[in-house]
Amino acid sequence: MSLLEIQGLSKSFRGLRALNDVTIDVAEGEIVGIIGANGAGKTTLFNCITGAFPPDSGRVTLDGADITGAKMHRLARAGLVRTFQLMRPFATVTALENVTIAVQSRGVRPERRARDEAAELIARTGLDAWADAASGSLPTAVQKRLELTRALAMRPRVLLLDEVLAGLVPSEREPVLDLLAELRREEGVTMLFIEHIMAAVRRLSDRVVMMDQGTVLARGNVDDVLADPRVIEAYLGKEYGDAA
Ligand SMILES: Nc1ncnc2c1ncn2[C@@H]1O[C@H](COP(=O)(O)OP(=O)(O)O)[C@@H](O)[C@H]1O
Ligand SMILES: [Mg+2]
Repeated sequence: MSLLEIQGLSKSFRGLRALNDVTIDVAEGEIVGIIGANGAGKTTLFNCITGAFPPDSGRVTLDGADITGAKMHRLARAGLVRTFQLMRPFATVTALENVTIAVQSRGVRPERRARDEAAELIARTGLDAWADAASGSLPTAVQKRLELTRALAMRPRVLLLDEVLAGLVPSEREPVLDLLAELRREEGVTMLFIEHIMAAVRRLSDRVVMMDQGTVLARGNVDDVLADPRVIEAYLGKEYGDAA
């Protein structure tokens, strides 16, 4: 049995099939990259897994338990946490407070203990200099790291990452990739990550799933998938950012 099993998920928006019978298994400790052009349905897949809206059909299980349509706080307690493509920290509170709130969401009390743990996490992700700054005022790269730090504060077994590197310049990407590699190595965190930057996909993924128009077009090892003519064809002519 895989740790995360996504079975036949479908979702339509007013006739548009954003997800069409998507099945993906992720084993414990595995990192699976999700690639595909804009509009392929990648974020919708995460939205259906994390209860933003229920899928029209299909099933999601975590460690054998049915979590289809479950809301984020329940999922977090079960060990599944996501980050957002567009960040949503509480803008007016400080970075440290944001992470403290995430630690408290696990039931850690008293506040002092939660705050201490948050401070450790912030040091680990290199955010010390911004600990007391209002989250909404932080530069994009820092907000991205804060979003990841908040996710870590929930002690995930499974982390769903939606374009965590978007908006970062190459020198800012490295520390994030290092951190993700370390999380898997040292804590066995399982990850499903949507990413456009192929160097990152190559570096982190054990396997890749390529989505196109709501379906899985190809899956397997990174080199094979990227060399697949159907994959190349699906990318041709599509706006694809700084993919290379
Ligand atoms: N909440 C929504 N309401 C209506 N259409 C949506 C919604 N979310 C996504 N879509 C549509 O579903 C398709 C897939 O979008 P999305 O999952 O965001 O793609 P990706 O993340 O791969 O770029 C797009 O055509 C998008 O416009
Ligand atoms: Mg998206």
